[in-house]
Amino acid sequence: MTVLVTGGTGYIGSHTCIELIGAGYEVVIMDNLSNSTAQVLDAIGQITGKRPAFWEADCCDAQAVESVFAAHPDIRAVIHFAASKSVNESQAKPLQYYRNNLLSLIRILEAMQRHSAHCLVFSSSCTVYGESASQPVNEQTPLQPPTSPYGATKQICEQIIADSVKAGSGLRASILRYFNPIGAHASGLIGESPLDTPQNLVPLLCRAAAGKSGRLQVFGNDYDTPDGSCIRDYIHVSDLGQAHLAALTRLQSGKAESATEIFNIGTGKGFSVLELIRTFEAVNGVKVPYDIASRRPGDIARIWADTRLAQEKLGWKAHKSIEDCLQSAWLWQTHCTQKH
Ligand code: NAD
Ligand code: WQD
Repeated sequence: MTVLVTGGTGYIGSHTCIELIGAGYEVVIMDNLSNSTAQVLDAIGQITGKRPAFWEADCCDAQAVESVFAAHPDIRAVIHFAASKSVNESQAKPLQYYRNNLLSLIRILEAMQRHSAHCLVFSSSCTVYGESASQPVNEQTPLQPPTSPYGATKQICEQIIADSVKAGSGLRASILRYFNPIGAHASGLIGESPLDTPQNLVPLLCRAAAGKSGRLQVFGNDYDTPDGSCIRDYIHVSDLGQAHLAALTRLQSGKAESATEIFNIGTGKGFSVLELIRTFEAVNGVKVPYDIASRRPGDIARIWADTRLAQEKLGWKAHKSIEDCLQSAWLWQTHCTQKH
């Protein structure tokens, strides 16, 4: 079966393509390279023995999307990763975020309808839960009003998908709410490599440890958590890739109980920023220079996932430990020094 992977040269997309190819899927990638490079295709080829078909094109461009579907009439499913993902940048450039994240989804859904591709897996985020009174959060936990345009786009995209499914054109969708993806492929050949300065904790932590940037700033040690730093649910990106495979398999099997299903994709365990630093230092034998800084506006104190639904319905759970995550992140950092 042929799967269109939008955003497939990006961080999560590239790791997912490896899982898909490994499971025997034909993969077609569409990416405008706004936050990735085509070199990733060589690495995917090296790891899997198969270089995926690639279209450098923008998902917001209806004609470009049509060309990809027309060239691959056997596309039956889409995994839609393509989006802009920086919370900060979305605050500075809200229109760019609304246009890219909403329009790309709409163009893809329109083309899927025209070409009778009925299965969609969509990248959502735990950001939709905001600050919840109790942890862990499950899929029924009420969503909070979004605190950034980025977060708003994920909530609106979820609604667009649910409405499209309800309209009865045959579309079936699996919405995956990722928690904090980290780490890199075990080969050390691909990992997180944003074109701009990274903003997420683990790439910044790796850069600080490698002496590639200044000291890591720990945003707050006065939260109401055991060590005062924030708690998140960090999931290895290859485990996350496998979750997409499981979601796709369920969509194709017709076993889904409703035409739109939503799953939390995390580990079910929370780690604090300071615990992460200590674990990184222990498993990699390298020091992380850091300072305690003030809180980052908009951060929530804690969130981790209730993952029982994914386990029950998708037969999926995360296998890699926090140590695996941080070892692979460091391996990638040391392999990619020429880029970062
Ligand atoms: P990424 O930036 O590494 O990958 C996204 C890819 O999409 C990039 O290769 C980029 O060039 C491409 N892209 C963006 N807009 C496009 C467009 N209009 N047309 C074609 N290609 C386009 O990001 P990622 O971390 O791999 O995230 C993938 C998805 O997962 C995104 O939807 C993101 O919002 C979501 N997500 C990410 C995280 C995270 O922490 N990384 C957490 C939750 C959800
Ligand atoms: C993790 C923890 C920071 C950087 C964001 C998005 C979310 C999702 C994942 C896309 C926090 C602390 C960070 C630093 C620090 N992305 N930190 N120093 O904020 O949980 O989630 O990425 O959907 O939507 O909001 O991830 O990696 O930025 O931060 O102390 O230099 O690390 O305060 O507690 P976050 P993050």
